[in-house]
Amino acid sequence: MNQMKTDILWAGRLAEKPEAEAFAFQSSITVDRRLAADDITGSRAHTAMLGKQGIIPAETAAALDRELANLAEELATGKLTIDDSAEDIHSFIEGELTRRLGDAGRMVHAGRSRNDQVVVDLRIYLKRAVPELCGELRATAAVLLDRAEEHAASVMPGYTHLQRAQPVSLGHWLCAWCAALERDLGRFTGALERLDECPLGSGALAGSGLPLDREATAKILGFRRPSLNSMDAVADRDFALELASACAILMTHLSRFCEDAVLWASEEFGFMSLAEKWSTGSSIMPQKKNPDFAELIRGKSGRVTGNLMALLTLLKGLPYAYDKDLQEDKEALFDSLDTARLCLRMFRGMMAGAVFNTARMEAACLGGFLEATDAAEYLVRKGLPFRRAHEAAAMAVRDCIAAGRRTIAESPLPELKKRSALFEDDVYAALSPAACVAARKLPGGPAPEEVRRQIGVLRMKLRG
Ligand code: ARG
Repeated sequence: MNQMKTDILWAGRLAEKPEAEAFAFQSSITVDRRLAADDITGSRAHTAMLGKQGIIPAETAAALDRELANLAEELATGKLTIDDSAEDIHSFIEGELTRRLGDAGRMVHAGRSRNDQVVVDLRIYLKRAVPELCGELRATAAVLLDRAEEHAASVMPGYTHLQRAQPVSLGHWLCAWCAALERDLGRFTGALERLDECPLGSGALAGSGLPLDREATAKILGFRRPSLNSMDAVADRDFALELASACAILMTHLSRFCEDAVLWASEEFGFMSLAEKWSTGSSIMPQKKNPDFAELIRGKSGRVTGNLMALLTLLKGLPYAYDKDLQEDKEALFDSLDTARLCLRMFRGMMAGAVFNTARMEAACLGGFLEATDAAEYLVRKGLPFRRAHEAAAMAVRDCIAAGRRTIAESPLPELKKRSALFEDDVYAALSPAACVAARKLPGGPAPEEVRRQIGVLRMKLRG
């Protein structure tokens, strides 16, 4: 027969224990072991409240509190290791208390179920882990904004359809990334606000007949309030969905940024050279310097999206209130949070060490007629209807192609005047890549002073 090292909490009802493989199948200790400190925090609040309410003797509450503090300490120092043959972290901690304190340990679970316990643990954990992730997000955006400031005036081609479109600046491009990151931050902080409710006292699903003080445990644990409804409290995993979704969106952003980075680092673009320590080589091709970090971040976004799908699918069709299916929530959620956090750190390191080839970026603005829109706007400023201006600039581009000229500015003025009499000498100064960028100084635009303003706004919004 199976001999479990840790007592099974529900062994009283069942004459037979599951086979070892089956017991391991339904256990969650390998995943929820990371909730150990939070489980202890929750139990300390619960036992303090039980003592205060006279549900357990005050001395028992005090003894439990001492031993819970010891357990936390021993786990932190490694003196106590979590027994992976326990069913879950809740059983393990309660088992330890009972092993050490006897009947006092057996009192800790009064008025509580693992169903409310696991969500209180998870919420405590998330209130710690998500701000850490937000810190990584802020730090990553801060590095990008520093680089944006450095390159507020570094002109480069902007693209649509991956075809060179109009000159922008590297600063403008990096601010675009940070604008997305700032919204990601908002999704995490919004989710954190909504999950800030304490489920303790909800029991298995139906609360408890014992005179628990739910306000007190919520307060001790620093939650804004106790949850409203005990069935919702144990069945709800919206917070996991919201966070998994915030992670998936963040990873989608990082994946797109990395795609840009991979392109920039290619010989074909040549806009960016990654630091050697943020590159990898090839086992066969001696010359290779590959952007593996960017590719791997891009690749991992798939799994994080998958985690969100897994959670949505997990919840769909679950009858109220608690079902064991819910145990599957943590693996996906932890993986999403861990992956997003690590990817932010890797992306930050990679981008901090990258060297931008500004000469090459500026040169890439020439030869593809990226100034054509600005030429059309030049004519609009002189009073020509836009559609006519568009056509005149298009014809000027055609003339250039026919004559083998690389830019509109290489056309002599009489040639340009054939397309529109409104072209004057001042057109030449207006069509350099830097002039095109400088002219687009509307809010949101790529002009260096406007990019610096955007950097300021983003810095303020991303402040911790
Ligand atoms: N390990 C479980 C989970 O993560 C804890 C709750 C178990 N409750 C139960 N009735 N089996 O969801």
